[in-house]
Amino acid sequence: MPQLAQMGVSEMKAWVINHFGIDELSLEERPVPSVGEKDVLVKLHATSINYRDLMVVEGTYNPKMKLPAVPFSDGAGEVVEVGSGVTKWKPGDRVMPIFAQHWFDGDPDAEIRKTSLGAGSTWDGTLREFAAFNESGLVASPSNLSYQEAATLGCAGLTAWHAVVESGGVKPGETVVTLGTGGVSVFALQFAKAAGARVIATSSSDEKLGRLRELGVDETINYRTREDWDKAILELTGGRGADHVIEVGGSGTLPRSINATRFGGHIAMIGALTGAASFNPTSVFMKAVRVQGIYVGHRRMFEEMNRAIEVNGLRPVVDSTFWFGDVKLALHRMKERSHFGKIVIDFENEK
Ligand SMILES: NC(=O)c1ccc[n+]([C@@H]2O[C@H](COP(=O)([O-])OP(=O)(O)OC[C@H]3O[C@@H](n4cnc5c(N)ncnc54)[C@H](OP(=O)(O)O)[C@@H]3O)[C@@H](O)[C@H]2O)c1
Repeated sequence: MPQLAQMGVSEMKAWVINHFGIDELSLEERPVPSVGEKDVLVKLHATSINYRDLMVVEGTYNPKMKLPAVPFSDGAGEVVEVGSGVTKWKPGDRVMPIFAQHWFDGDPDAEIRKTSLGAGSTWDGTLREFAAFNESGLVASPSNLSYQEAATLGCAGLTAWHAVVESGGVKPGETVVTLGTGGVSVFALQFAKAAGARVIATSSSDEKLGRLRELGVDETINYRTREDWDKAILELTGGRGADHVIEVGGSGTLPRSINATRFGGHIAMIGALTGAASFNPTSVFMKAVRVQGIYVGHRRMFEEMNRAIEVNGLRPVVDSTFWFGDVKLALHRMKERSHFGKIVIDFENEK
């Protein structure tokens, strides 16, 4: 394949944060990144929005973030150029960047966290047409997924996999609770069902509860009309409680999540959608619950998840797809919280 420069492609489009706010995002021309010896140039075809990306754009993730910055961490694309020392990839390979570019296995640390994409560190994000990554910072896309579907996996998909499989070790017959119908929760229920678990899912919307049942969820609870949803879970489990809760709500939902968990059960602590509230830890030790903080996931987990997606023919649930030029509309949809699953940004097809 001829080098891009020889084809006359030297500029690309990128969405840039110069000032915080969805409507402040600026579409700019930038040079296509150059490729070092061990680097791979990827033409990105799609990305997707995570709650973190909305926070980054609005300035609530890290108000001291270095600007200008390119946001977003998810991506799927194809290799278009490789450095002279690259052995893992060749032009035409379908790839996805890993969330933290230096996290391959084991526990994360502060240095690894600094290599996460799209939060204003030295690592620009994926809301741009081309990006260069070290060859170690990529994984192959599952062969059964389109670019648009694969672009949902890097953060929400992997976080859910980490919670359900790596941390939870969910077994057939166990009960898993998911909260709401955002990106992480919908992936979590898909992985839990694939593992043979019984899934109880909550949502604020009866319409979304219907869609959850279509996805194979066993029991659903509307957490708006049934505010004591933890009691509903205890009723559904004969008073025992769930084996696992995939916790995305944070301190506003955690007390009920603990109440809904069996003695010795597992809570995967992922998100903080509900903001700050006081929290009494007594029930954590009185019930000997294991509360495990989850930080996305590393490359080995990403590869294992992709294999499971291929073998089981799993398809991410895409709420809606917006064209690259309409990213502000997509972010506003995310903010409204009317979505179900993932919101995708397609770089190719103007709608
Ligand atoms: N630790 C990590 O590595 C990591 C990785 C990814 C995400 N996260 C965090 O996980 C959380 C979810 O992320 P996401 O991308 O999946 O977000 P999202 O797609 O924006 O999820 C939004 C949905 O969450 C549900 N929700 C909101 N408040 C709720 C409540 N009080 N109880 C139950 N459900 C509630 C709503 O579902 P309904 O409309 O159905 O009610 C809402 O539509 C965020 O806090 C995010 O920052 C953390």
